[in-house]
Amino acid sequence: MKSISNFPRWLLAAMLLLVMALAACSSTEEPAPAEESAEPAAEEPAAEETAAEPAAEETAAEPVVIKVGAAHALSGPIALYGEPISQGIQLAVKQINEQAYLGENTTLEIVLEDTAGDKEQAIAVFEKLINQDGVVAILGPTLSNSAFAADPVAQEAGVPVIGSSNTASGITDMGDFVFRTSLPESAVIPNTLKVVSEARGLTKVAVMYGNDDQFTQSGYEVFAAALDDLGIEVVATETFAKGDTDFSAQLTKIKSLEPQAIVASALAEEAANIMTQARQLGIGEDVYFIGGNGFNSPKLAEIAGPAAEGAISGAAWFISSPTPANESFVEAYRAEYGSDPDQFAAQAYTAAWVLAEAIKNADSTDPAAIRDALNGVANFDTPLGSFGFTDNRDPDHTPVVLTVKDGVFALFE
Ligand code: ALA
Repeated sequence: MKSISNFPRWLLAAMLLLVMALAACSSTEEPAPAEESAEPAAEEPAAEETAAEPAAEETAAEPVVIKVGAAHALSGPIALYGEPISQGIQLAVKQINEQAYLGENTTLEIVLEDTAGDKEQAIAVFEKLINQDGVVAILGPTLSNSAFAADPVAQEAGVPVIGSSNTASGITDMGDFVFRTSLPESAVIPNTLKVVSEARGLTKVAVMYGNDDQFTQSGYEVFAAALDDLGIEVVATETFAKGDTDFSAQLTKIKSLEPQAIVASALAEEAANIMTQARQLGIGEDVYFIGGNGFNSPKLAEIAGPAAEGAISGAAWFISSPTPANESFVEAYRAEYGSDPDQFAAQAYTAAWVLAEAIKNADSTDPAAIRDALNGVANFDTPLGSFGFTDNRDPDHTPVVLTVKDGVFALFE
C-alpha cells in the first residue's frame, strides 16, 4: 500500500480540492432532504399539474352557468310570502355555488322575476323565463292561484317547475313537470283539526273563507270535509274576497252563533284583519282561530298583534326542529339576513337545494333529464327533514301544529 507521502503533490492538491468540493456540496444539501423529499413529491405531480393546468385554465375560462328562474310575488300584499321565499332561494344558491356543489366551474344563476301575486303576470313571467332567459327550471310561483294559470306554460314547454308555497289541491295534477316542496292543505288540515279537537273537545265552529282564490277555496273544501269527518258542527259559513278590509257583517253573525272557534281559510293579510275586527266586535279571546297555510307567516301576528294570540295552524316546518340540517339553515339565514326564517323561506330553500341535487344527479341541463332526476331525489337532508317526492311529485313528510304565543309560533300542546 502506498504511503500518502509517496503521492505527487499535484495529485494530493487535486484530491484535497475534490474532498472540499464534495464537503461543500453535501453541507448545502444537508437540510435539503427534508425540503427535497417534499419538493420532488410536490414537483412530480406538478409536472402533471403543469400538463393539467392548461386544461384547468381552459375549463376555468369556460364556466358553465345554469340559469334557473324564480317567479315570486316581490311586490304587493303577497310579498309577505314572496320576500322570505326569494331570500330562501338566494341563500341556497349562494351555498350551492360556494360549495361548488355542481362542480368547480359550474354555478347556478337565479333569474328572479316579480309576479306581484297576479296570475296574468305569472304567465308573462313564465313565458319570459322560458323563451328569453332559457332557464332549465322554474321555482315558484307564490300563489296556487298563479300556479294554476302559469304552470301549464312550463308543462307545455317541458320545463320543470317547483312550487314551494302552493298548497291547493290539484297543483301537481297539472302535469309531470310540476313538483312542489309545500305540503298540500289536504296533508295538513285534517291532522290540525284532529289534534285540536282531541285537546280542546271541539264541537262547534264557524267557517270563513275567501271565495275568489283557488288556495283559499281549496283550503275551505279540505276544512269542510275534515270537520264533517270529525262530526264537528259548522254554525255558519261566510265568505269574503281578496283585499276586503271590512268583515263586520260576517263576524257579527258569527258572534251571535257562539262558536268555540273560527276556522279561516285565508291569506295572511285578510286573516290578520279578520282577527283584529273579531276582537273589536267583542268576540272574546276564548274563541280561537284555526287556519291553514295562509296563517304560517309571522306577519300574521305582526299585523294582528294581540288579536292573533292563540291562533292555531298546521305547518310543514317549525323553526326549532332540532335536526342538524334545520339548525344550520336557521343559523345561515340569520347570518345572511339578520332575521329569522319562516316556513316559506325553509320550503323555498329546500326547493332550490332539491333542484341542485337533481341537476347534479342528472349530470345534465336538459330539462327532461332534470325532471327525471327530481323524481329520483330521495332521503335528501333538508330543513323539512329527509326529503323525497311522492309518486305524484308532492313532498312526503309529517306536519306539525303551531299556535301563536307571545307573538311568535310555538308548538301546540
Ligand atoms: N299557500 C298559499 C297558496 O297556495 C300561499 O296560494
